Amino acid sequence: MIKKYVYGNPIPTNAVVADIEPSEGGIQYLTELEMGGKIIFNYSMENDDIVYGLGEAARGLNKRGGIYHGFCTDVPDQTEDKQALYGAHNFIVVTGMISVGFFVDCASDVKFDIGYTAYNMLNIELTCPDFVIYVIEGKSAYDIVKQFREMIGRSYIAPRWAFGYQQSRWSYMNEDEVRKVVKNHRDNGISLDAVYLDIDYMDGYKDFTVSEERFPDFPGFVREMRDQGIRLVPIIDAGVKIEPGYDIYEEGRQYQLFCKKGDGTDFVAAVWPGRTHFPDFMNSGARMWFGSKYKLLTDMGIEGFWNDMNEPAMFFTEDGVKEFKDYVDSFDFNTNDPGKFFEFKDKILGLSNNMKDYESFYHNMDGRIVRHDQVHNLYGANMTRAAGEAFDQIAPDKRMLLFSRASYIGSHRYGGIWTGDNQSWWSHLLMNIKMMPSLNMCGYLYSGADLGGFGCNCTSDLLMRWLGFGIFTPLMRNHSALGTRKQECYNFGDPEDFRSIISIRYSLIPYLYSEYMKACLNNDMMFKPLSFEYPSDSFARIVEDQLLVGESIMIAPVYEQNAIGRYVYLPEDMLLVVFKSSSVRRYQIMKKGMHFVQAAVNEVPVFVRRNKLLPLCRTAQCTDKLDTSMFEIIAFTDDNIEYMMYEDDGVSKDYDNPDNYVSFAIKDMDGILGAVSPKTIVKLSLF
Ligand code: NOJ
Repeated sequence: MIKKYVYGNPIPTNAVVADIEPSEGGIQYLTELEMGGKIIFNYSMENDDIVYGLGEAARGLNKRGGIYHGFCTDVPDQTEDKQALYGAHNFIVVTGMISVGFFVDCASDVKFDIGYTAYNMLNIELTCPDFVIYVIEGKSAYDIVKQFREMIGRSYIAPRWAFGYQQSRWSYMNEDEVRKVVKNHRDNGISLDAVYLDIDYMDGYKDFTVSEERFPDFPGFVREMRDQGIRLVPIIDAGVKIEPGYDIYEEGRQYQLFCKKGDGTDFVAAVWPGRTHFPDFMNSGARMWFGSKYKLLTDMGIEGFWNDMNEPAMFFTEDGVKEFKDYVDSFDFNTNDPGKFFEFKDKILGLSNNMKDYESFYHNMDGRIVRHDQVHNLYGANMTRAAGEAFDQIAPDKRMLLFSRASYIGSHRYGGIWTGDNQSWWSHLLMNIKMMPSLNMCGYLYSGADLGGFGCNCTSDLLMRWLGFGIFTPLMRNHSALGTRKQECYNFGDPEDFRSIISIRYSLIPYLYSEYMKACLNNDMMFKPLSFEYPSDSFARIVEDQLLVGESIMIAPVYEQNAIGRYVYLPEDMLLVVFKSSSVRRYQIMKKGMHFVQAAVNEVPVFVRRNKLLPLCRTAQCTDKLDTSMFEIIAFTDDNIEYMMYEDDGVSKDYDNPDNYVSFAIKDMDGILGAVSPKTIVKLSLF
């Protein structure tokens, strides 16, 4: 049951697709008050209530004990205390004796104090008077999530090749460097499907250009890579370089498609290309115009993109620098006041992504002029929308890969997200694990983190453990920053273990893709907290570092350095399969309860649930070469069971065709259990 409460005159956010009539009367479950120009909603939590949601946010699966802001923010250091990350996903579920969900649909900042100020108080604070709150009642947290997902519409569906292993770096500087990356993977037998092009592929960081010096025959190079089973995925930034003669800049200016200052001039801020204008993604004409530009690259054979810097990130503005200069000019360098020192530091850091700058420019929302800070959360989401809608025109029958850094619920229908600039820290591997179900709750299914970490120097064991988790995430991309240690697998000594771990991914692709597709098509989750499947198990309720991946398996990744394994809680009897590679495994049936499970750095433990079945295919060097006519089956059952695998061509959009399901069954055949499927079963391991 969903109730909708409208406050003021909200700006349409495009988050909700369901047609829900506004409710009469006061809001249920929440107490509403106005204080100091803010609207505050309170909810009294019970001692053991758990609060799920908020999608891309720091801290744990249970959000209790922290403050969070739904305000898209460029945060290069995602420490535990960060209150806002790149996405604004204002959906939470409070669950305990009763369960209730709240979606605060507001395009500007929303603050959630979830038991931080007072442990039993949930506090939602808004400064903007125009918003909608949806209150969702349901029988469990999972039920509420499913209702919410239904209400916000079907998630973006990625092509199947995007389930292959992908290698990125800021930046591979020219075609020879890309060739070497591909050759090194192939020579070392490490499977690979895509290589990413970061900003340096462009000519002077100009969107939709390709540097002729670095990539003299780009279409030819795209083809050359494609012949080797590799897709190139270029980055597109939000800011458009100011450069007379550059067609995108000239067109944007001529047709008034950039964001404007109060005086009607185009707003300027510095990003990678230097002085840039920002396309007004809130304007449908600007979206169509910018979206149409992706064709320049799809015409060269490109099949996927990542949209970046679209919070929008700004290094500084001229006004900001001027103000800082005045501050420096009047600064008393003889001060011994420590407060002044911190103030000075904050002023420098505050030049970037400054709120005053966000308050200084405007959007033309098809006639309605709106100041940016009022719609800040929608900017990146509408860049994703611009690209997604353009792809429907450019290639109506083909799936394109698209994911973004900034997001707002609603953009999940047009593209996925990656979780931005994490670090090569063990704690960020754990954060990645805990974030996946929260992202799924908010509709972001095609998602993943920079495996190995973006900033800082990665170590071989961290990368291996991270890949040991990353083999389950739809986006499996190793990405690292300029100036950090080279992070491609072959740079860490003998690549055998990396080859083996990535081989596990490829043999799991039919299962992972199937579970991903079913989750997309049924508005469901691919990554679930244990509590969603074992709601009456009080211990399963609090486990944060083990996840259910699809219907058949539970994972318990190792995320600590020098660990030889970890404690794992089994909410029921399960079959432990420790993978050393796609074909080398050991098995053990384990009883419900707590166990120490050994898993060396080059091993990946997977738990097959009782009466479930896991199909595995043979590994391959890229998804094009996966042979899905033959399967090995691992099943943990003594009964008849069936697994319906979703399988389609992975590129077209005939999603709802019933022929896209293949059955794998374990059946009693004259007193003996055996496997039955239209596929060839090369091996059955029955437990
Ligand atoms: C910031 C992005 O988060 C990162 O992934 C990218 O490498 C840099 N921008 C450079 O484009």
